[in-house]
Amino acid sequence: MRIVVTGGAGDLGSRVVREVVARGHQAVPASRRTGVDLTTGEGLEAVLAGAAAVVHCADDTSRGDTVTVYGTRRLADAAAEHGVHLVHISIVGIDEHPLAYYRRKLRAEQGIEDAGGAASVLRATQFHSLAAFFARKLSAGPITVTIGDMALQPVDTDFVATRLADLALGARPTAYARATDVAGPDVLTVREVATLLRAHRGASAPKVVRLPPVGGLLKAFAERRNVPFPGDADTGGQAFADWLALQPQRLSGR
Ligand SMILES: NC(=O)c1ccc[n+]([C@@H]2O[C@H](COP(=O)([O-])OP(=O)(O)OC[C@H]3O[C@@H](n4cnc5c(N)ncnc54)[C@H](OP(=O)(O)O)[C@@H]3O)[C@@H](O)[C@H]2O)c1
Repeated sequence: MRIVVTGGAGDLGSRVVREVVARGHQAVPASRRTGVDLTTGEGLEAVLAGAAAVVHCADDTSRGDTVTVYGTRRLADAAAEHGVHLVHISIVGIDEHPLAYYRRKLRAEQGIEDAGGAASVLRATQFHSLAAFFARKLSAGPITVTIGDMALQPVDTDFVATRLADLALGARPTAYARATDVAGPDVLTVREVATLLRAHRGASAPKVVRLPPVGGLLKAFAERRNVPFPGDADTGGQAFADWLALQPQRLSGR
């Protein structure tokens, strides 16, 4: 099968490409570096021709609605027109979350549904690299700030890529369909993530300052809206601690 992967050179997309190829199918990375731009539609028709599915991993969080909402809708319209199954990656817990990016991801899902083609939407929790990034952002020296009972259920990016490949290569839905959410095996508080990160660098446990959840955004995180209810998500993949053990001592980026 010919499977197009938008953002096929990105963190998630490159893993989907590898997984599709490992299963003996053709994976076609599609992003600006291969001549496909979701903000203009350049190269889109050509790359979708003859594809069974397109796995949508392209995004640009720095450009507001441009790629996340409008680029996704442009892709969904083109996929529907060409009869290509669209497999989209989204985020767990975005239904009632005030974070601007999560609002956009929800609108992206709505745009896919409105486009009317065959589509599978998979929501995942934060990838391990993002959980580490969050905990680092919430830390300064030995101090880590947590908001209420904020926690994460971080997931192995390869586990998510495997699920996306399953959807792209599996039975095609007749219309818009949500797949079962995916999450990692452990729910970890910010304190636990920060403690693991510091231990990884040979440092002692952090001193944790617990802030009250003031305002809608902090309340949403304190209420753990980003964590699936037990039993609601398929869990699996490498645990955060096992992922961390394979990382360099000094983490960088996301
Ligand atoms: N990180 C997480 O914890 C997490 C959790 C759940 C879901 N997700 C979702 O996973 C998806 C992928 O995340 P990621 O971290 O793998 O992203 P990434 O590494 O930043 O890759 C995104 C790719 O999108 C491409 N792109 C950007 N603008 C484009 C445009 N205008 N047209 C075509 N392609 C464009 C870029 O390639 P070019 O530069 O070549 O265009 C880039 O390689 C996102 O939708 C995100 O919401 C992430």
